Amino acid sequence: MPATIPTLREGHVSIRPVRVRDARALERELVQNRSWLRQWEATSPHAPLSFDARASIRSLQANARSGQGLPFIIEYDGELAGQLNVSGISYGSLSSATIGYWVAERFAGKNATPISVALATDYCFYQLGLHRMEICIRPENAPSLRVVEKLGFRYEGLRRRYIHINGEWRDHFCFALVTEELDTGVLRRWLDRDVPTDAATIPQADRDAAANPLPIARRR
Ligand SMILES: CC(C)(COP(=O)(O)OP(=O)(O)OC[C@H]1O[C@@H](n2cnc3c(N)ncnc32)[C@H](O)[C@@H]1OP(=O)(O)O)[C@@H](O)C(=O)NCCC(=O)NCCS
Repeated sequence: MPATIPTLREGHVSIRPVRVRDARALERELVQNRSWLRQWEATSPHAPLSFDARASIRSLQANARSGQGLPFIIEYDGELAGQLNVSGISYGSLSSATIGYWVAERFAGKNATPISVALATDYCFYQLGLHRMEICIRPENAPSLRVVEKLGFRYEGLRRRYIHINGEWRDHFCFALVTEELDTGVLRRWLDRDVPTDAATIPQADRDAAANPLPIARRR
């Protein structure tokens, strides 16, 4: 079921569908913010990193047409600030999706990401009828861990060598929300300062585990 991609706003921040004509601006941001983004960038174990923004947008749009994704541009005061992708949308008995995001360094610390995540999650829950939204974050990514903490995403666990990031399989802490945890939606709950303070707390045992790499079996 292909979903329409809406434009959603709160204060200075809006999210809107990515367009092919965003390619040049996106490419510029990706190049200028290379050192800011590289450490957290999803890579492929089978292909080199591509800077072809046009091809990447077309692939996101094809994914959206097949009903599996919602590719958004994050804007701050109307200026392109970053991207938020809802991916892995599944309906039926799972009714779940995953969110990934980045903003350019000059927009960091302005709440652009938590507002965007809240807008996208509320849309997925209350317009698309999804039940669960997931966000997975590398243990070292303190700013991103702060985003899920602000919004009260609930810590679910450590996933070993889960996503290929910056050239390696990396451990991730996984967080999620299901609709039953919310009365008024993610954005409203945050604006009303009604977010549970300890939902995103990571148990010390998982922090300790993440500090030690998973032993890799030696191939014979
Ligand atoms: C993670 C990221 C998306 C957060 O976005 P954001 O819009 O800045 O989010 P917030 O405004 O809520 O800031 C979150 C925290 O980042 C930290 N922060 C703020 N300004 C910062 C800066 N200039 N540099 C580094 N960290 C900063 C603060 O701890 C802030 O928490 P606070 O608001 O309680 O002070 C952004 O840092 C980013 O794009 N990083 C690179 C890509 C990335 O990590 N993507 C996510 C992969 S899971």
